[in-house]
Amino acid sequence: MRYLIIVFVLTAVAGQAQPLKARIKIDIERQTGAIDPLIYGNFTEHLGRCIYGGIYDPASPEANADGFRKDVIAATRNLGVSVIRWPGGNFVSGYHWEDGIGPREKRPKRKDLAWGDTEPNTVGTDEWIQFSRAAGAEPYICVNMGTGTWDEARNWVEYCNGKPGLYYSDLRAKNGHPEPYKVKFWGLGNEVDGDWQMGHRNAEDYSKYALEAAKLMKWSDDSIKLIASGSSNYVRDWAEWDRTVLNYLHDYIDYISLHHYSGNQDKDHNQFMAVTTRVENSIKITEGIINEVRSKYRMKKPIYIAFDEYNVWYRAWNEAKLEEHYNMQDALVVAMYLNVFVRNAHVVKMANMAQLVNVIAPMMVTNGKLWMQPTYYPLQLFAQHCKGKNLSTLVQCDRYDAGEFKSVPWLDVTSVYNEAQQEVVINVVNRHSEKAVETSLQNQYGKWTGKAIVSEVNAGLADENSEKEQKVKAVTREVAAGETSFNYTFPAHSFTQLRIKVKI
Ligand code: AHR
Repeated sequence: MRYLIIVFVLTAVAGQAQPLKARIKIDIERQTGAIDPLIYGNFTEHLGRCIYGGIYDPASPEANADGFRKDVIAATRNLGVSVIRWPGGNFVSGYHWEDGIGPREKRPKRKDLAWGDTEPNTVGTDEWIQFSRAAGAEPYICVNMGTGTWDEARNWVEYCNGKPGLYYSDLRAKNGHPEPYKVKFWGLGNEVDGDWQMGHRNAEDYSKYALEAAKLMKWSDDSIKLIASGSSNYVRDWAEWDRTVLNYLHDYIDYISLHHYSGNQDKDHNQFMAVTTRVENSIKITEGIINEVRSKYRMKKPIYIAFDEYNVWYRAWNEAKLEEHYNMQDALVVAMYLNVFVRNAHVVKMANMAQLVNVIAPMMVTNGKLWMQPTYYPLQLFAQHCKGKNLSTLVQCDRYDAGEFKSVPWLDVTSVYNEAQQEVVINVVNRHSEKAVETSLQNQYGKWTGKAIVSEVNAGLADENSEKEQKVKAVTREVAAGETSFNYTFPAHSFTQLRIKVKI
């Protein structure tokens, strides 16, 4: 009996420690699409402490001469953010941009009906564009397609991009900015499909309204790129929304937007780790509808997806300021969102994590001090290193079922060839909460040159950061890598990025 118990205990312990096995095959000839650096974008909304107390805080010792926080600007640059969307979000659907220009003492204070705060209009178009450029990011302005008018939309384009000699461009010059800002990216409203939106419309009404706005905006500056408001929630008829929008707007738009937020409300790790499957499906379905519409109208011009809001957001869902505190588990989900965008790089040409600071954000300012949330690190690793062409990657590993999600591989993998750097970048999330995955990494083309730079984000699944302690961060080291293959063990619940130089 005693013998049997010992055998039983030993078997159980051995079973637990036993790593899973996997094989990943990399072939730099199997390129599926160019990664647009705009997929490493972000978003700042007039909401809670994102603008006021986040990017802008003139009373802080961290403030620059314009009142923007130098530490936030530096951390945004360090994050590698390529494009920033503004001013909303739900906020924009009640925002009249002319409230935010000219002498500050004359700017009106207004109640923002989206979030219930008073908007002082201290930060408006001129200030925000200054911030965005200081942070090294392209500005992306979303216009008000809720309570806004067509004239407001086209005048905003003229204010930002018009040459001297026109009313609004001269107003810009009068406000101290004679040079056109050349704002390239313009959104045609935010989440107009949702009844929570000011000026919510059905698909037909939105499309007809946005079409006239699009015409006037393009006629004001035909170099701009327009992003239509696509479906935001994948509930009831969402694909029909996108189909209608594309049918009406295809001649004018360059992108259709998608949004997605995820959460672990059910406290089910395996289901949470599979949630980006839904994101990938929505991309595939939207791609299909884009193809359908392009072929119907025999279009030459491409239309891409701008995934211009995504993140984990559930604990602070009903809180006024949306100050979500992230943990290691959430960092894995962010890494998987990014893997989805990279894997679909041929059609997803922009993505914006919502949001930049304090509000469901990768960085926080508390007690005057800036600190990084766990979600900062996967985004930083992708934005800094994951450039070039996505590769179709063979991944053989064990799979699992969880709720609606079937046959989910324990490893979520992308690989990328960066020709400029002669480098392969491999991004691996091990979804398993307990088991490591012993993996054979195999090279199909050229020779790997002896070592891999490994950056790993890993900690206890519930570990969070704070202004006092960075429990979750990226740790980088070097390992030996054979010319054609080597073994690497991905620890349980980790995100790992390997960079390997290739000789061709
Ligand atoms: O990012 C927070 C909010 O989420 C945005 O204002 C809105 O577009 C979305 O529903």
